[in-house]
Amino acid sequence: MKYLIGADIGTSGTKTVLFDENLNEIASSTVEYPMYQPQNGWAEQDPEDWYNAVIKTVKTVIEKSGVKGEDIKGTGLSGQMHGLVMLDKDNKVLRPSIIWCDQRTEKECKQITELVGAERLIEITANPALTGFTASKIMWVKNNEPLLYEQCRHILLPKDYVRFMLTGEYATEVSDASGTQLLDVPNRCWSDEVLNKLGIERSLLGKVYESCDVTGYVTRKIADITGLAEGTPVVGGAGDNASAAVGTGIVNEGAAFTTIGTSGVVYVHTDKPKIDKKGRVHTFCCAVPNCWHVMGVTQAAGLSLKWFKDTLFKDIISRAEKNGADPYDEINELANSSPIGANRLIYLPYLMGERTPHLDADCRGVLFGLSASHTQGDILRAVMEGVSFSLADCKDILEEMGITANDMTACGGGSASDVWAKILADCYGCDIKRLGSAQGPALGAAILAGVGAGIFKDVRSACDRFIKPDNCIKFSPENNIKYKNIHSLYKKLYTSLKADFKQLSDLS
Ligand code: XUL
Repeated sequence: MKYLIGADIGTSGTKTVLFDENLNEIASSTVEYPMYQPQNGWAEQDPEDWYNAVIKTVKTVIEKSGVKGEDIKGTGLSGQMHGLVMLDKDNKVLRPSIIWCDQRTEKECKQITELVGAERLIEITANPALTGFTASKIMWVKNNEPLLYEQCRHILLPKDYVRFMLTGEYATEVSDASGTQLLDVPNRCWSDEVLNKLGIERSLLGKVYESCDVTGYVTRKIADITGLAEGTPVVGGAGDNASAAVGTGIVNEGAAFTTIGTSGVVYVHTDKPKIDKKGRVHTFCCAVPNCWHVMGVTQAAGLSLKWFKDTLFKDIISRAEKNGADPYDEINELANSSPIGANRLIYLPYLMGERTPHLDADCRGVLFGLSASHTQGDILRAVMEGVSFSLADCKDILEEMGITANDMTACGGGSASDVWAKILADCYGCDIKRLGSAQGPALGAAILAGVGAGIFKDVRSACDRFIKPDNCIKFSPENNIKYKNIHSLYKKLYTSLKADFKQLSDLS
């Protein structure tokens, strides 16, 4: 039997899964790490944490399963997108990584737009300048830490830093590179025009591959510490959403999925690059060669629920610890005990600013309508509903662009919750398919590894053969009408508060 590994380097932790060649899960391991917020709206992580987590989880799945290193024929990496990793001439990490949800780079976005030109930027990179994307983070370091920037010899994305540590290769692949804003997205190569206009040396960037290409091989040193065999191929892999798409079987025109992880995403596969001229949703290359995807992003999806749990509802965590239970079981029960509309409580999930549909780094979270009668259940339900409204905003924009997203699958931790998946289906007004396994991105990365290692012919045939929906959450038309009503008030709240958010961010 042959085996494959998929490692997903996420924001809350790294999950590594060992699969056999029929994509049965053999062993899995997760290691968590912190996100640092040195200032309101900033978000950083330590690249060493990602590397250590990958090493530990790979070693664990090999030990747990008893599978021999030489039977593992390929490894695929999936990862949080956009994060900036800078290495010096000795390959030392120069500063903590500024990650995807960091919002410090509004000034740099204006600078990028001026330097490249708003229309030209969208033509080449398929997206407007966004605080979340890597280019603005690079420009921020150039502007604010020039001495450090001078020492930079290599720029890598989070999973590509891990790739470098595993193989010694400076490389990336098209899906993740799309989120740097330095890639010519329609042509799937670095854009010399954008690089020149921004004054970023092309030599700082790694070689760009397609997601299932082999980008390098596990070194002797890594083989010794993990139990993998030296020379095991490491394929390009993909950004977490493109990887989740493969792991969810979303690889054909018009198929869509919603993921509720730390961020939330509504993702549609397209065979041609389709670009929103207003730049409200992202167009990126996807992990299927010569295909693209369009997606809307909610910055704080699972992050919202986790924040309430960790900051305000610690009693739920203590009870779970005492009973050896998962705190999310009680959270789901409580949310389910509150009715649609959470007893007139509305949550705006803008804890880390918002991308789709507002592209606003200054907006922040709101609990609107809080009353002394509200319970924990109402608040938790309002959080799930608010995130679902934000995802419905993403879906609405896709539909405005003529992209129908009604063949919807869900993945990610949040959509494994029955109550949250039902809220989502009712908000969307469409049924939602779910898969038996919740391994979206890690499974996707393993499939890409299987293609690179020659075990599967191509991505689509592997998905057709192995990925089957397990259950379907039906939407209720009656609930959809109720949610439409609340959603329209939810939308009005942002419009009413937009100027106030700006004023808030200007307060010292
Ligand atoms: C996508 C995005 C997030 C991160 C973290 O553009 O920023 O989905 O990849 O999950």
